[in-house]
Amino acid sequence: MHHPSTPQDALLELRYGAQTKPSPLLWNAQIEALLQHRSVRDYLPDPLPPGALESMVAAAQSASTSSNLHQWSVVAVSDPQLKAQVADLASGKDKQANGFIKQAPLVLLWVADLSRNHRISCEAGASTLVHDYLDAFVMATVDAALAAQNAVVAAESMGLGVVYIGAVRNQAQALAELIQLPQRSFVCFGLVVGRPAQRPDKPETVRPRPPQQVVLHHNRYDHAQSMRGLEAYEAEFHKFREGIGMGQWTWKDSVVYSNQFEYMDGRENLRQAVVARGFKLL
Ligand SMILES: Cc1cc2nc3c(=O)[nH]c(=O)nc-3n(C[C@H](O)[C@H](O)[C@H](O)COP(=O)(O)O)c2cc1C
Repeated sequence: MHHPSTPQDALLELRYGAQTKPSPLLWNAQIEALLQHRSVRDYLPDPLPPGALESMVAAAQSASTSSNLHQWSVVAVSDPQLKAQVADLASGKDKQANGFIKQAPLVLLWVADLSRNHRISCEAGASTLVHDYLDAFVMATVDAALAAQNAVVAAESMGLGVVYIGAVRNQAQALAELIQLPQRSFVCFGLVVGRPAQRPDKPETVRPRPPQQVVLHHNRYDHAQSMRGLEAYEAEFHKFREGIGMGQWTWKDSVVYSNQFEYMDGRENLRQAVVARGFKLL
């Protein structure tokens, strides 16, 4: 068996396994921390340390934001009863699936939010036409995602664990009403935050990624090269699933499964919900 010789080699081994590894890498503490990311779905109920939320939001606000418009918000749900309602709205067909939302002390709901700037333009008696276009929706959604990922990096640097929850879009309108969102805003995704019940450095839960040739193209997109890279990924995916006691299931199986209509669990109504919330998506 191959034994990695440095901590950096060990990180690459976890991330890419036996596949072609990127080389050379310019290592530093930040890159090392990023490569250790893993989603956590088992939490201690302990509250977050004082200042953790504020530090995460300072990191989130430090992300770039389209035209310095700050078209995102975050709703920090810590009230256990409200959090349980959020979990129920996100649970879909498998009612147990999001038990960890109830278990963790906090879920952050990341909001694409045109509401503030819409009001500012209205108060100025100016046009808000731009907000009716798909681009405004994309802008706000991208900004919310960038802010959230900075918060993730901050949280993980404090030894906290996180998992994103796209399933909060299952019932987008009901969730918006539950947390009293204004018009022209919607929750893009949730983020569960808490202290991992497992040791945060438990190595086998780092989920391998495909080799870089799958996602990285130089100058022009090369579909064939990308697809060839996926062949090696199946073996790593299999090893990972075996390591955590999950059944036989290829990565391509999971792609095909996630492309079934049933997988949407209510998200097929997202356009309708978003339009009802005041986005026109022109
Ligand atoms: C936008 C987004 C939404 C996600 N939604 C869910 C979710 O609803 N439930 C869940 O258990 N994991 C969710 N995940 C976590 C992914 O499944 C996870 O990131 C992926 O499997 C890779 O694993 P890793 O984060 O441990 O590296 C989501 C991730 C992202 C980026």
